[in-house]
Amino acid sequence: MKFADITGWGKCAPPAKLTNEDLSTFLDTDDEWIVSRTGMKERRISHVPVSDLAYVACAHALAAAGKSADDVDLIIFGSCTVDQVVPNAASRVQQLLGADNAACMDLNTACTSGMYGLSVATAMIRTGSVKNALVVGAEVTSVLMDWSNRDVAILFGDGAAAFFLETSDEKAGVVAESLGCYGKNRDILDVTGWGAKYANQGLTLGETQWNFDGQEIFKRAVVGMSRACEKVLEKEGMAKEEIDLVVPHQANLRIIDALAKRMGTGEEKVYINIQRYGNMSAATAPMALVEAIEEGRVAPGANLLMPAFGGGLTWSAHLLRWGSRIAPLGTSEVELPPCDKTGLQLIQDIVAAKKTAGA
Ligand code: ACO
Repeated sequence: MKFADITGWGKCAPPAKLTNEDLSTFLDTDDEWIVSRTGMKERRISHVPVSDLAYVACAHALAAAGKSADDVDLIIFGSCTVDQVVPNAASRVQQLLGADNAACMDLNTACTSGMYGLSVATAMIRTGSVKNALVVGAEVTSVLMDWSNRDVAILFGDGAAAFFLETSDEKAGVVAESLGCYGKNRDILDVTGWGAKYANQGLTLGETQWNFDGQEIFKRAVVGMSRACEKVLEKEGMAKEEIDLVVPHQANLRIIDALAKRMGTGEEKVYINIQRYGNMSAATAPMALVEAIEEGRVAPGANLLMPAFGGGLTWSAHLLRWGSRIAPLGTSEVELPPCDKTGLQLIQDIVAAKKTAGA
């Protein structure tokens, strides 16, 4: 059977930053608490819809692969904050790119959506359904955040990252994965006001309430990701010492540290960018891999382990063998429109708009 090599990668981090200091201007929190409990320093807030972030990331991934929009067979949009359910978000990316030959689907497994998307695209390429695919993990959690709840408001940021995958005879791309879900515990991360069941309950859609048990999620994330890592290594018959870089979902630095400790992985083998972005949900692990490549942390032929965890409670681990190329074949000039507001101003706008809608 063929493989699905990752030959293009791209990202889109919206320019407006929301720092810990900004958060402490309207929440009872401070930089010291957030850094020591989560490892986060700042996150990005988007001034555009999520599909625009995804479009930029996809345009860069396509250019890096040396492909044009006409070449694309499939677009998978991993997200739980899509602009609209109908029409789907992948079709918006198709429209913006002009990728008229592509099939388009959205996929939601919360924070693991980008990684589940990688699995679906890889399987479809390997079985011959399509020859290539663009997979994007993108999220604009800021519009659905309860900005009065310090338990969650400090944790999330917006962003997008994308990969172009294409059929290959070389053993490259995702070589094994382990996917699962702790559905029995799905209620420990539950956001009300965000879905069709709330339409007839006198609630303003998007006026959310985040009910979550951070400590319980923390424990399950560590156990879920480490078990998934063990499973995937066993599937491939690979020793953990053979892993060159672990590129995990970034929900909390202490979760990553606990995972690395359980696996006996030294910190030099773990890629971390949580300080810059917080948790971007579906975009998190893809963005971490894109930045690891950009920073020269991924060598040709490297073995990469990518554990992730999200609402549902979904979990995953992917074992990737990087291909022969770590330099992009081309670049794209596609970029976001300029933003003249700070992150703090953007979330003040979101809060004000919700008040007006609910009034
Ligand atoms: N600023 C200041 N103090 C705070 C804040 C805040 N933002 N939030 C909570 N506190 C206080 C609490 O009120 C509590 O005070 P008390 O001791 O007087 O009662 C104290 O800090 C400790 O609170 P804990 O909830 O015990 O803090 P913990 O160390 O568990 O950290 C956190 C909380 C960061 C949410 C952690 O549990 C976590 O990261 N959980 C997993 C991540 C997660 O849930 N992400 C959601 C997305 S799902 C995913 O991506 C996997």
